[in-house]
Amino acid sequence: MSQQNIVVGVTGGIAAYKMVDVVSQLRKAGFNVHVIMTANASQFINPLTFQTISQNAVMVDQFQAPSHWDVRHISMADKADLFLIAPASANMIGKIANGIADDMLSTTVMATTAPVLIAPAMNVHMYENEIVQQNINRLKALGYQFIDPEFGRLACGYEGKGRLASNDVIVNTILEFNCLKDLQGQKVLITAGPTREHLDPVRFFSNPSTGKMGYALASQAGKRGASVTLISGPSHLPDPKDVNTVRVQTAQQMYEAVLEHECDADIIIGAAAVADYRPVQQAAQKIKKAQDELTLTLVKNPDILREIGKHKNNRILVGFAAETHEPLKYGLEKLVKKNLDLIVINNVSDSDAGFAVDTNRVVLMDVEGNEEKIELTSKQQIAIAIWDYIVKHLINKEA
Ligand code: C5P
Repeated sequence: MSQQNIVVGVTGGIAAYKMVDVVSQLRKAGFNVHVIMTANASQFINPLTFQTISQNAVMVDQFQAPSHWDVRHISMADKADLFLIAPASANMIGKIANGIADDMLSTTVMATTAPVLIAPAMNVHMYENEIVQQNINRLKALGYQFIDPEFGRLACGYEGKGRLASNDVIVNTILEFNCLKDLQGQKVLITAGPTREHLDPVRFFSNPSTGKMGYALASQAGKRGASVTLISGPSHLPDPKDVNTVRVQTAQQMYEAVLEHECDADIIIGAAAVADYRPVQQAAQKIKKAQDELTLTLVKNPDILREIGKHKNNRILVGFAAETHEPLKYGLEKLVKKNLDLIVINNVSDSDAGFAVDTNRVVLMDVEGNEEKIELTSKQQIAIAIWDYIVKHLINKEA
């Protein structure tokens, strides 16, 4: 699978310097980044800076490479999986909206069929100018997408809307953007949430899992082009968009649902917190309060991932380890015992990570002995990082 190409167009504005960090983040996220600057942008920041950060030649002048100039803007336009223009000046927005192609950037944008994201940055009165607004609306109507500027103190001294969207907003917009179809063609099966093991019709054994991590993995995989089946224990979360969601209650039902769908899957992720035991008997009626002591006998549930690991063939198998002590040691043991390719280890004794919170902090460990630590962040971001890891280390490795 080839690396995604992002062409970043930088126009003349003080916010151009912020793009050094954005380009660096995009590279770290695995994109191949090509920067095109306008001549004005190169007054604010030296092209060499972007060249060093992007590790690709920076284009400014359409005529800078005489032997190639006539094809360069076309080849770059064709190469782009996504085009980002940031900061986008009123001038550049005006040119694109009116079909003017008189420099390397505007010519390449004109020639591309890739989605174009535009992040304007300018003085508040320029931004509010009716001509600029009409140009923006015209481009929006044509399918160009905008990352709105923020409200704040502007370089010109004014307060208002016009400041380039923050680096995080720009990078996240790109990560979320549909162009990243690096899971296209992959069939993904994910388990999520807790299971419920009923003792009688009104009582059950369960755990605090909400399903957030598994649901985030499912929706992220869907966005990246995979065909996804999510087998979920009881969870209040709505079915993720474009994901085939199968709801179950017990570990046994989850196991059966997984068996039903597994032969179709290329990648299986066990993010569910499956109950290890269930009561041997489930009373048909509510158990009455009688004796002072009640002894329950529990029987082991199937270990879904372990069973699949026994006949995994070419599938990629990913598990989670929720540990309260020595997480790395026990995580590694699980990786081996369950015949996994990757294990996501979290220390559930941290109050801001693991079960039923919105954030997590994990260590990824794979069969090759690679390790990657992901510091505390949202479960959405963790899901993105897990998929990035799978694409980079497990899928591309096999290609
Ligand atoms: O052995 P342990 O329960 O700690 O392993 C956790 C990993 O195994 C998780 O990925 C979980 O989804 C999976 N698992 C499973 N079936 C079980 C128990 C755990 O698939 N019965």
